[in-house]
Amino acid sequence: MMLKDQNDLNITASDPKYVALYDDAITELAHFRDPSNIIEGLLEQSPHFAMAHILSAYLYLLSTDENDAAAAKQHLALANAAAQDSAINEREQKHLEALSVWLDGNMEKASFILDSLLIDYPQDMLALLIGHQLDFFLGHAQNLKNRIARSLPSWDKSHPLYSFVLGMYGFGLEEAREYNRAEDIAKQAVALNPKDVWGIHAVAHALEMLNRYEEGAQYMKQRKQDWGENNFFIPHNALHLGLFELEMGDVKEILALSDTMIHNASTGENPIVLLDGSSLIWRFYLDNVDVGKARLQALASSWRKIADQNFYSFNDVHAVMAFVAADDFSSAEKVIQSQKMFLKNNKPGISYYHMTKEIGLPISEALYAFGKGNYQECINKLMPIKNTIHHFGGSHAQRDVFARTLVEAAFRSKNKLLAQALLSERLEEKPQSPYNLMKKENLALMA
Ligand SMILES: [Fe+2]
Repeated sequence: MMLKDQNDLNITASDPKYVALYDDAITELAHFRDPSNIIEGLLEQSPHFAMAHILSAYLYLLSTDENDAAAAKQHLALANAAAQDSAINEREQKHLEALSVWLDGNMEKASFILDSLLIDYPQDMLALLIGHQLDFFLGHAQNLKNRIARSLPSWDKSHPLYSFVLGMYGFGLEEAREYNRAEDIAKQAVALNPKDVWGIHAVAHALEMLNRYEEGAQYMKQRKQDWGENNFFIPHNALHLGLFELEMGDVKEILALSDTMIHNASTGENPIVLLDGSSLIWRFYLDNVDVGKARLQALASSWRKIADQNFYSFNDVHAVMAFVAADDFSSAEKVIQSQKMFLKNNKPGISYYHMTKEIGLPISEALYAFGKGNYQECINKLMPIKNTIHHFGGSHAQRDVFARTLVEAAFRSKNKLLAQALLSERLEEKPQSPYNLMKKENLALMA
């Protein structure tokens, strides 16, 4: 029968109590809390609830872990079967189409289908949440902002989920380089709901880009009880605190933070979490900071079982970072070979193919070359892609690790002109960054 969800949208379900559970799961997802228990319980009671299967499949895909793809496919099949049992509506059908093309590897098309769905149903929270993450995975900075901007006026400001829409908008504004407005909007989101961890994250991004490192660290510390408990975004928000502290040179504090919240024995083999560990470790590696063999080996060991998936290129290169930093060039080489094989065995049309070919493989090779001391080779690999690197996803803050690699390679290869050019670019954007200022001093001492 046709019922209404919490956004007053028609939803095909057999009982309002199942729709209430579905709404609870969406609210949990908006908080970045794991809704899988709710969904599993819901599907036990109502196994033909198409949107619950669709939500479950999306969740498996959000992990960016190939090991979860089979479960996502299963839920897609069950959603299709449920759709045949009781005719689903046009909006639900579009979700099925988006899921189906995503599982075929076409993330761009999935993103486009959700965009077109949102034109007709701007209050579809699931389409907003998933579409926003797809924009992030695809590096579509303008659409991170605009997808939300198109929907925002249709939302009632008193709706319990409104703050999360604002939080997404704040992050989109930041990635679209509208930093002051991003800070303002994201802070409004957090004021409405202090547990909006994506909103807190958007404030952190804005402060990072506005060169307000000390304030950023304080902001994250003051709100630790809101972002640091009961959600699967903890390691990433901890990374942002670590990045503020890194600018201030507080190595001991960052390592303690890393051990407790970013990577430790209980982290597991989840690529989207492990890449936060790699992102931090590689920055230390570039700066010749000794973080201890145990940490390096633990991170490399966590990556080893999931390193050559070729499922999301952004993950693959973060595995290479962990291997090179741990001096495990054989595992790094394996990833590079698997990327080459993947390109040989696949054809254009799959998002991962384009990401790997254009960005992922050259970066893996650049990191490997850097580790081997072949700094010119590293430069040769990174320079042609430095302006299109966002095509394989991530944020400005995350991708800065590759820009720093290029700067460091320029210094180590004694290419003063290149180092100067790259620093000019960085100082224009972040004139107060202690890292940039330190490099400027180093440049002055360069022969
Ligand atoms: Fe981030």
